[in-house]
Amino acid sequence: MQQKFIINGQKPLAGSIKVKGAKNAALKVFPLALMTDEPIRVVNVPDIEDCHRAQEMLAALGHSVKILGDGQMEIQRQNKTCLNLPADLVNKFRSSVMFVGPLLVTCGEVHFPHPGGCVIGATRPIDMFLDGFAKMGARVERLENSYRLTAPKLQGAFIFFPKVTVTGTESLMTTACLAQGETVLENCAMEPEIPALAGFLNKMGAKITGAGTPTIKIAGVKKLGGGEYQIIPDRIEAGTFAILAAAVNSGEVVIANCEPKHLGALWALFDRVGVNYKLGKNSIKIFPSAKIIAEGAVTHEYPGFATDLQSAYTVLMTQAHGLSLIHETIYDRRLLFCDTLTQMGANIIMADPHRSVVNGPTKLYGRKLVIPDLRAGIALVIAALIAKGKTEIDNIYQIERGYEKLAERLKNIGADIEKI
Ligand code: EPZ
Repeated sequence: MQQKFIINGQKPLAGSIKVKGAKNAALKVFPLALMTDEPIRVVNVPDIEDCHRAQEMLAALGHSVKILGDGQMEIQRQNKTCLNLPADLVNKFRSSVMFVGPLLVTCGEVHFPHPGGCVIGATRPIDMFLDGFAKMGARVERLENSYRLTAPKLQGAFIFFPKVTVTGTESLMTTACLAQGETVLENCAMEPEIPALAGFLNKMGAKITGAGTPTIKIAGVKKLGGGEYQIIPDRIEAGTFAILAAAVNSGEVVIANCEPKHLGALWALFDRVGVNYKLGKNSIKIFPSAKIIAEGAVTHEYPGFATDLQSAYTVLMTQAHGLSLIHETIYDRRLLFCDTLTQMGANIIMADPHRSVVNGPTKLYGRKLVIPDLRAGIALVIAALIAKGKTEIDNIYQIERGYEKLAERLKNIGADIEKI
């Protein structure tokens, strides 16, 4: 049975909401269990659908996953199975591609279909992963509906990413840890999840330098040990809640357990649009703002303005005075949700798949909505919280892929939201 959210909008919000561990950090650490005989303990794991799928993948590949409660789990290799990544799981989340390198470098072969995930780009290619593995000596076969990679032993290599890729950087950095010799990765992504992953790999015995800069060097080692990994707070969740509180613009909302320093680009926008906020060391306070002024935003790789916050920011701009140009540079399907916002009463002109112009402020009205993907989904939840009347949101699996117990947590700060 599909579940839905029923939201009655225009309720004042106030109180404190805690940020969970970062989805996009958690999903990259689980596959490391394939590269060691020792247990890996992961702390601050968010209880979300994408993490459940990754845990199912580990179990399918012969690992025990012990849920210890309170966001902690322990993973250990039991009877590791090699060669095939299960298609039904690979189809459900794009980070399944993180399992490819660890299997290839430890088993010499891996066979998998094209990974699934949010439909936010025409194809969401994996060419840079495949080219990287080929540079490291793998034979790459593109079959009709799948890929087969073989490599008796991967060799260190010089790899330049033609385009900045987050998971591509993480995948090749991880795999190179067990390759022979040195790997140099150039034009790497610099998202905070990358130095976090490198820090843990180094704890396991890897030799990585430069993570968090455009050049990462990895000296291959013979084996890796286990250890404990503390997942960093989810900067996208923190930024989303900050935008949500600013857009509803009613009471004082504290966003706790977060790293405000990971969101510099958002604070620069808040300064320009007039959001009243205060940053603490690990918290953000959003106060009611007198007037929100329109300001365009251009998405960019970290430390620029995150594409994962664009949809929420677009909703904020429907409440701002004036015109704002939203320029989505990373994906070509992430602005399509603007059509749904328009149905709710927003005044948005789509210039092309990468640019839309929001004319605000406009009143929004509750509607029946089906959400297309995770970040558009949370943006429409924000729109529903602002809107007059009742909104029904279908297909909330997409939201639950990335936000733990969302209805419960928003209710605690005053939202009228039910999951049925
Ligand atoms: C990560 O996706 C995040 N996902 C995304 O979060 C995020 O939107 C994205 O980075 C950009 O910040 C995870 O970390 C699990 P990319 P990723 O490779 O790594 C193109 C969310 O909602 N590309 O940096 O898959 C690609 O199509 C999400 O949490 C190639 O052309 O993104 C895109 O245009 C969804 N070839 C650009 O590069 C490749 O081989 C950047 O993508 C790989 C990517």
